[in-house]
Amino acid sequence: MHGSPDLSGGRMPQHVAIIMDGNGRWAKTRGLPRTAGHRKGVEAVRNIVKAAGDIGIRYLTLFSFSSENWQRPADEVGDLMQLLRFYLRGEIATLHKNGVRIRVIGDRSRLAPDIISLIENAESLTSGNTVLTLVIALSYGARQEIAVAARRLAEAAVKGLVDPAQIDEAMLSGALFTADIPDPDLLIRTSGEKRISNFLLWQIAYAEFVFVDTLWPDFTRRDLEDAIQEFCRRERRFGASVGTR
Ligand code: IPE
Ligand code: IPE
Ligand code: MG
Repeated sequence: MHGSPDLSGGRMPQHVAIIMDGNGRWAKTRGLPRTAGHRKGVEAVRNIVKAAGDIGIRYLTLFSFSSENWQRPADEVGDLMQLLRFYLRGEIATLHKNGVRIRVIGDRSRLAPDIISLIENAESLTSGNTVLTLVIALSYGARQEIAVAARRLAEAAVKGLVDPAQIDEAMLSGALFTADIPDPDLLIRTSGEKRISNFLLWQIAYAEFVFVDTLWPDFTRRDLEDAIQEFCRRERRFGASVGTR
């Protein structure tokens, strides 16, 4: 059954996170190089960002490149970085016009200087936008993020700025890249793989997971709406004995 998800009942996910997987397989089944899959994947990104804004999702996090993806062949990494440049240069104006605020999370120190500038410009240009926050996870690994947060808190403690006895969940959350972003309600992974691959480990404690077989380049607005409808059918309990939403 299709149709627009129910926007009325307070059941819409506020934050949807997506592990965009399957670009390589999409290309392989067509006898094309992996790059062709990544290029097609960027088109899907464009469509899904637009759809998310239209549907009324407030935060969309896209896993674009993991810390571990640096281990891929240099050619492929180069192609992915080139596509990122292309996306940031080509889409910023449209995203800004559509009220999208851009945030990039991950280890920037490994990125090329021109990409860092593009990211900084995109973030500052769009910082006042309120329709949709697009969080791009780039050179991102959740374990690294948590380790960095722990290090920051330890440094603050050594300086006497934080009392170790006061370190709690909220303080650790506040030391993550996602400090001011609510936790994802819905996590979608495409391509049939059923694993997390070091994505948002802390933040997905109570997310609902939807795994779909569709390869990312084939993922459409309708697939997003289906996943949201599946989310709306779930009963979230957060450890309590009755649904709390
Ligand atoms: C997802 O597609 C994109 C990135 C991880 C950058 P893959 O490149 O992982 O595609 P498959 O999983 O090999 O099909
Ligand atoms: C996860 O996909 C990372 C991104 C989608 C950016 P991978 O294709 O890298 O994950 P594994 O290797 O299948 O776990
Ligand atoms: Mg993959």
